[in-house]
This record gives sequence, C-alpha cells and structure tokens, in this order.
Amino acid sequence: MVQLQTGQMVGQYRIVKEIGSGGFAKVYKAIDTEQKDLPFVALKVAYAKSSKGQDEKRFIHECKILSTIDHDNLVTCFEHGADEDYLYLALELIEGENLAEKIDREKGLNYLEATKIVLDVARTFPYLEDMEVVHRDVKPKNILIDSSGKATLIDFGLAKSPQMGFTETKDYIYGTAYFLAPEYIKNGDSFYESDVYALGVTYYNAITDKFPFDDASTQRIMLKHVRNQPVIDLDSGVPEAVRELIFKMLRKKPFDRPGADELIAALERIVKGSKKNPKPKPWKLIHIVSSRRAGKKFVARFKNKKTGRFKNVHFGGKGYSDYTKHKDPERKERYLKRHKKNENWQDPTTPGALSRWVLWNLPTFDASVNDFVKRFNLD
Ligand SMILES: Nc1ncnc2c1ncn2[C@@H]1O[C@H](COP(=O)(O)OP(=O)(O)O)[C@@H](O)[C@H]1O
Ligand SMILES: [Mg+2]
Repeated sequence: MVQLQTGQMVGQYRIVKEIGSGGFAKVYKAIDTEQKDLPFVALKVAYAKSSKGQDEKRFIHECKILSTIDHDNLVTCFEHGADEDYLYLALELIEGENLAEKIDREKGLNYLEATKIVLDVARTFPYLEDMEVVHRDVKPKNILIDSSGKATLIDFGLAKSPQMGFTETKDYIYGTAYFLAPEYIKNGDSFYESDVYALGVTYYNAITDKFPFDDASTQRIMLKHVRNQPVIDLDSGVPEAVRELIFKMLRKKPFDRPGADELIAALERIVKGSKKNPKPKPWKLIHIVSSRRAGKKFVARFKNKKTGRFKNVHFGGKGYSDYTKHKDPERKERYLKRHKKNENWQDPTTPGALSRWVLWNLPTFDASVNDFVKRFNLD
C-alpha cells in the first residue's frame, strides 16, 4: 500500500497531499518541479509497483486514451512514468470533489443539478464511441465536480479500446455491482450501451442517494440487474421525463437503451424544460379583497379558469401562524381540525399550495395583484 508524505518526490513530482483513492491507486495533488506555469497535477500512484505487470499496462493504456481524446469533460494525461519505487500517471488536476462524496454529503442532489452532471458525462460518449472506447467503470466515484459545477469523467483504467490494443479479459469482474449491466453479468460483454446503463444507475443514485437495484449481497444485486425491473422512486417534484429516461437507460437489452446522441438530446430537454414555468394552476387570482397589514390578514378572490367558479381565500390570522410550532400534539390537532372545516383552508406545508408561510414573510400586502401573481407564481 502506498502512503506518500508531503514533500516526498516521485519522479519529478513533489507530493502536496492525498486527494483520493480507488481500487488500483492513490491520487495526490503534486507539483511538477519542471513546470513554472500551472505546476499542479493529480498524481495517480499505483498501489503496487510491478514494472512489467498488469498495472503498468493499465496505466500506459489509460494515459494513451486520455492523451488521444481532447474533450472538455475529460482530463488530460501529461505522462505515465515510473521511478525506482513507484508507478504513476500525471493527470490534469481537477480541484473539487467526486460525485460520490457530493451525493454522500448532500444525501441526494436536486434533479436539475444531477441532470447537468449526467449531461456533462454523456457529452463524452460520442467521442468515446468514435475512438471505440468503452469506459466500463462509470460511477459517481469516477466523476469529478469542480467548483463551477462542471463534471469530468475520469479513471480509464478499465476501459476497453480495441483500437489501442486493449481488451480486458472477460473473466475479470470489474467495478461495483450496483453499476454492472445485465449483458456483462450474463456474458461478460460490454458495449457503449453498458456505459449508458451505468450512467443511468449513477443518475438515479445522484438524485436519491439510492440504487435502482439493491439488495444485501453482490450476488443478489447482480441477479436483480438481470431479472428485475429497476425500482425508480422519485419525489413528485421530479419531472416524468427524468423517470422515463432513467428507465430507458436501464433497459435490459443494450440496444433498447438510448444512443449517445439521443441521450444528450433527452438530457438537454430536461434541463431546458425546467426553465419553463410550472403548469399553470386553474385558480386565477382576481384581486385582493381586503388587507389589514397590522393583523397580517387579507382575503384574496380567485376564479377557477376551468369551472368559472369564484372563491375567497383567507390568508393570515393568528391560528395559522403558529400551529406547526405547537409542541402539544393535541393542540396542534385541534388547530388543524378547526381550519380544515373551512373549505378554503389549504395546508401551508403542501408543496405548491398557496403558502401561508410565504405570505407570512411578506413585508407588506399592498403589492399590486400582478406583482403578487408573479411573485408567487399563482397563475
Ligand atoms: N485528475 C484528478 N483530479 C483530482 N482528483 C482526482 C483526479 N483523478 C482522480 N482523482 C481522485 O482520486 C480518486 C481515485 O482515482 P481513480 O482514477 O478513480 O483511481 P482508481 O483507478 O484506483 O479507481 C477519484 O475518485 C478522485 O476522487
Ligand atoms: Mg476509480
């Protein structure tokens, strides 16, 4: 096991600090002592040095792929090398964190943020296909997020690329069971579509911090990939298009999954769609009937665009303001019961309902109706 200290030299690189680790290597922030401008690199150091072994082949291969493809969402490899003690790769440094760390920290990302990350990764797919490269280890730990939110796909250590003379043996189980495509589990086959599958798992994992195929053992997870339909459990606020796309990415037959271009287009549509206004509500605010600023109370008149019916909604009033704060469950229950009798009562905690909480925080009520509509997206 490698454990390098700050200041230690590996080839021409001086170690600054450890920034990550994976199945094969430790990664350090390091300074290239022969570079004056932009001297920082990510130095990936193999756990075991075996000069003619599998590790070296893998490192050379990884560097070759990365230095052949110039893409905004991939890192550059400066060189592969070895000194007396260590085998290493010098990679472009991405300051930030990997997606697994981010998911863990945030317990799941907002769907839009997750979609943008997945889109960044998907953008590399057409280029990888052109080069006949199958990554084979797409997962959150192999996706880096920088401070601007841009995602970069890393770790081509297991990539298959016949063009570059590297086809990993089929009997080698790579990666984590959560991300393995059924064709790999069944026959050891991996295609570009296997990366799409793994990205589908990653997408779901990024939003929910859960996995579409999960169980107590690796064996059972693998069986589920082959036999079961994925469990896709998303909040109501996540657009249907996200669920549909994840399902499609997780189809059992590789060629039923979206191709690279189709995938990018679908993700772009989801990002664009989120910018449009949410579905208009049938109740249109006509006017504010009365307002009494001191008591923070007012009545607004609404018309239902579908039925033509009018209703008055009462906002404010002491009873609502504090009911959620009541520690005493009986008292809280009483409040809720009382106010639910009023047909216009809307639970302020229901997403999308006219939230009294928002109104509560309004500094004044005398904004014009239009302002009001715009501000609370009532129309
Ligand atoms: N270029 C880089 N810039 C910054 N951090 C990196 C870079 N490459 C790898 N890392 C960090 O190191 C970890 C392990 O790197 P990786 O290439 O995936 O190694 P392994 O092949 O052992 O899985 C990553 O999950 C990431 O956190
Ligand atoms: Mg890795």
